[in-house]
Amino acid sequence: MKEKILKCLREAEDYVSGQELCQMFDVSRTAIWKVMNQLKEEGYVIDAVKNKGYRLVQTPDLVTAEEVESLLETSWAARPVVYEEEQASTNQTAKMLAEQGASHGTLVVAERQVSGRGRRGRPWHSPKGSGIWMSILLRPQIHPMSASMLTLVAAMAVYDAISSRVEGCAIKWPNDIVIDGRKVCGILTEMSSEQDNIHYVVIGIGINVNTDDFPENIASVAASMHVITGAYYKRAEIIADTWKAFEKYYDLFVQTENLALMVDAYNQRLVNMDRRVMIEERGHRYEGTARGIDAEGALLVERDDGTTTSVISGEVSV
Ligand code: BTN
Repeated sequence: MKEKILKCLREAEDYVSGQELCQMFDVSRTAIWKVMNQLKEEGYVIDAVKNKGYRLVQTPDLVTAEEVESLLETSWAARPVVYEEEQASTNQTAKMLAEQGASHGTLVVAERQVSGRGRRGRPWHSPKGSGIWMSILLRPQIHPMSASMLTLVAAMAVYDAISSRVEGCAIKWPNDIVIDGRKVCGILTEMSSEQDNIHYVVIGIGINVNTDDFPENIASVAASMHVITGAYYKRAEIIADTWKAFEKYYDLFVQTENLALMVDAYNQRLVNMDRRVMIEERGHRYEGTARGIDAEGALLVERDDGTTTSVISGEVSV
């Protein structure tokens, strides 16, 4: 009910009367009053005027289930939202929920991760109150070989959410979002499957939103949206925008079970496009010029001898 009241206050242009809320949710005035007090305690500024009702004046920068759900415009993605303030890793929580039977679309969100993980087992800096640390659980009806493309689908969605707020962002293949060459978002996809059948996929997304200090070892390569623009952003709004965009790209993906319907858009956003890249693939290093991705999400690299190599997994440095 809290999330619905919040949504109702958010969408109202004027005061919403207590009477209206009681009727809408079929509860007593005291129940409504209790919810308003809870919201105020969480940092929402609500103006209450006798004979007029309640009006939402200001919202805090929270990533609670109620805050995110009251902003969502999706039909299945990020539904439901499971929020727990401190978690080891939202990917870990999502995998545990998947094993317990949680449904396609479930989103796990944390305020802080104590052992956030990045690709190749690297630690992921996930301090409290400044970033988005979230993982979605998917149960796609696709071949396990196609699942890695979902990471690029997620990168497209995060790009939409960030680029509508900050200029100059790009995708670094396969799935980092960078601004001025510094990483603001990383994505880690994990899967449980049999040979021909996916049990579940978990896509974990970390976005540095309002972070203003990074550990020394990543300070030169990482940034946050705040560090780049000086502005502060409401994280729940970025979360809601991400999943709205994700639904759109996911629909395109399942139509063909590849990225054919978004290859052009992806390549337009690709920071590496037509640039020299250094590829490191299973201990082997070589250089070339990136020519964009193909419909399977592989990076096409034109080698200096004129041949083209398609890179399926590996590290790219510009
Ligand atoms: C990368 O190395 O670029 C991927 C980083 C992924 C970080 C996110 S934060 C939410 C989710 N939980 C984790 O432990 N990792 C992912």
